[in-house]
Amino acid sequence: MNPVYLDYNATTPVDPSVAEAMLPYIYEHFGNPSSGHLYGRNANEGVNVARNQVAEMLGCHADELIFTSGGTESNNYAIKGAMSANRSRGDHMITSAVEHPAVIEVCKFLEAQGYRVTYLPVDQYGMVDPGQVEEAITPQTTLISIMHANNEVGTIEPIEEIAEIAHRHGVLLHADCAQSVGKIPARVDDLGVDLLSIAGHKLYAPKGIGALYIRNGISLEKQMHGAGHEGDWRAGHRERHPHGGAGASVRIDPTQPAPIPAAHGKYARPVGSGVDGGLWRDTH
Ligand SMILES: Cc1ncc(COP(=O)(O)O)c(C=O)c1O
Repeated sequence: MNPVYLDYNATTPVDPSVAEAMLPYIYEHFGNPSSGHLYGRNANEGVNVARNQVAEMLGCHADELIFTSGGTESNNYAIKGAMSANRSRGDHMITSAVEHPAVIEVCKFLEAQGYRVTYLPVDQYGMVDPGQVEEAITPQTTLISIMHANNEVGTIEPIEEIAEIAHRHGVLLHADCAQSVGKIPARVDDLGVDLLSIAGHKLYAPKGIGALYIRNGISLEKQMHGAGHEGDWRAGHRERHPHGGAGASVRIDPTQPAPIPAAHGKYARPVGSGVDGGLWRDTH
């Protein structure tokens, strides 16, 4: 009996169209995108196309988006980077008790460094109360970090309301959107977020690629020091093919059956061909 995979919130397979988009960057355009020669320029062009595709989905400018290694790195950078860059202003942040460890553990680390964190409780549906967010704000509050969609129970948190409260008090808002982007609308201006994290492997891109939206004008303390890649936000040579994959994955048309290329024939199945068929593509 063939096993049936029902854990798409943990991770998705790489979509065949995504794998196809990545191939040229594995075999052909393998140059360092920061190099000025033809190989570098071709690779850089691929990164720019992918960045524009992701930016289009989020409704932001391409230069407000950096690629990371995944949701965990994006959350680390957003939270540590914002708290550290604004330490002279305040040392307090607010989050919820139901965040993913990629947020909770960052908060615990910050507490060990002397920052103060308020962990808000949730109701029986896993919902954060915006009123409690407002009550928790102090003159030292710099950042609020609340997830958009919960990874355990699927609760969609009231990010828009929390954004209005945050900005009324001059506080930054970060949303961990690892479980929402690609599944429900998550446009930065509709949500009102200043920082937003994406995990590529939750939406048919490969593991090891993510993105962080950083609203223009926001400063973050760099977490990865080295050469000035990603607009000097994040050092380290970038792999080309996952970026191509990230761009392609946000372009998946959920209304079309997934193609089954020969190389993937053993694994891939078209929409509706099994118990998880509806989940295979139906994520936008
Ligand atoms: C809500 C949430 N945030 C962050 C992450 C971490 O993302 P990544 O695995 O890309 O580091 C996950 C992954 O399980 C998640 O569900």
